[in-house]
Amino acid sequence: MTTSSAPGKIILFGEHAVVYGRPALAVPVTEVQATATVRAGAEPFDRLGATPEIWIEAPDIGLRSELSRLPATHPLAAAARGVFAALGVDSPPDCHISIRSTIPVASGLGSGAAVSVALIRALAGFFHSPLTDEQVSAIAYDVEKLHHGTPSGIDNTVITYAKPVYFVKGQPIETFRVGAPFTLVIGDTGVPAPTKESVGDVRRLWEADKPRWETVFDQIGEVARRARERIESGEWRALGALMNDNHALLQQLTVSSPELDRLVEAGLRSGALGAKMSGGGRGGNMIALVEKENAPAVAEALKSAGARRTIITQVG
Ligand code: PMV
Repeated sequence: MTTSSAPGKIILFGEHAVVYGRPALAVPVTEVQATATVRAGAEPFDRLGATPEIWIEAPDIGLRSELSRLPATHPLAAAARGVFAALGVDSPPDCHISIRSTIPVASGLGSGAAVSVALIRALAGFFHSPLTDEQVSAIAYDVEKLHHGTPSGIDNTVITYAKPVYFVKGQPIETFRVGAPFTLVIGDTGVPAPTKESVGDVRRLWEADKPRWETVFDQIGEVARRARERIESGEWRALGALMNDNHALLQQLTVSSPELDRLVEAGLRSGALGAKMSGGGRGGNMIALVEKENAPAVAEALKSAGARRTIITQVG
């Protein structure tokens, strides 16, 4: 039996502009995890026939199926087939794959990529053929394309490497140092929002007026670059103003929402140093930068303003 876990992630700065080649910063969130377990034999399910069977169950999403019955575009099937192709496995033996996740779906915490990474590593371990991080990330990226259409690749990268990542699309992975740890409160609007839609809407805006939106992407990229410098030099309190700037730019891009704005404002009113939406937007999560001792109070304020749940996480 092999088991593998992968963390969630949160984008600190640079979402959306990252799709257009600007840098973004993302960090793993270990308070939430996806876990995949693979064991030999198809039990506890009944065999359907004499041919080898791979059963897959993911109770969190109500899935229990034979792998061969899932469409090729199903993310779990695509991840498993990606592993078989990478390892040159033509006829995998009977096995039972079980997936659990505490990462909320479609909320900007990287649930899809985390499930893929956990499954890819557990399956490769089951075949005693561990894959390199680069291979894991590449297979997870192919699966991300099914979820997102034109993903930048930031989710699969930060989740595979489980380190703070300064991400520029198409460039080799670059991690960054956290000069002094800092605390974030993550607030979930509870509104599921498919990233594919907000990314598609931003593309339509951009196509209608490229010079205008290129300028906004440049401004977001500049915020992300400055944020990296501040994080590396330990001046994390200076990130507050940069978060507020980044949120305002994302509002211009129309990817915030009344629910996100309400949580951002509640965070600031309750003493956060800065706050912004995180990820695709329109719903999902926001983040607030806080003094550590103030985190529970800010989390309470977010809940009073409608947050479905909050996570307090330490970066670095
Ligand atoms: O919604 P999330 O956390 O998966 O993040 C999407 C980030 C975008 O920049 C909006 C899209 C992308 O592919 O980078």
